[in-house]
Amino acid sequence: MATRTTNGNGMAPNLGLEAKARDGVVQTLCTVLADAHVLYIKLRKYHWNVTGPQFHSLHELFEQQYTALAIKIDEIAERILQYGASAPGSMQQFIDMARLKEDEAEGLSIEAHAMVEQIVADHEAVVRNLREDIERVGQEFEDVGAEDFLIGLLQDHQKFAWMARAMIKGKAL
Ligand SMILES: [Fe+2]
Repeated sequence: MATRTTNGNGMAPNLGLEAKARDGVVQTLCTVLADAHVLYIKLRKYHWNVTGPQFHSLHELFEQQYTALAIKIDEIAERILQYGASAPGSMQQFIDMARLKEDEAEGLSIEAHAMVEQIVADHEAVVRNLREDIERVGQEFEDVGAEDFLIGLLQDHQKFAWMARAMIKGKAL
């Protein structure tokens, strides 16, 4: 995606970063934003369609996570604006950019256990992807602000993964 930090309204913010670095950080943030949307929609789908003895707990868990993720989504998008770029906002753009995959199975056909496993896998994939993103924005683009922001996001996903994983440890749902 050709998001640039110098088009549109002219003057780019003077953050001590070259245009190439600003554009690189923006591309990284757009990808992170796209992944967050895929996971957000999946959490809502599971919140709506979960069934079984642990319905209430899982219904709540998925809601807590998509609510927390919505706040992160806003922070990621507003950070993109801080570089003078515009935030992507179409589902097609998010699908095209995302590294995570949607769960296209019919909602009520997905077992509760499989839902939680999928959420754990996605949070852990985000953590692994963010490791690479953090290295890129820190070492290649030398943007300590983005590096720090993405480290915080990694920590959040690591916590979300633990909370979901704890739901399935040691017992059948
Ligand atoms: Fe609800």
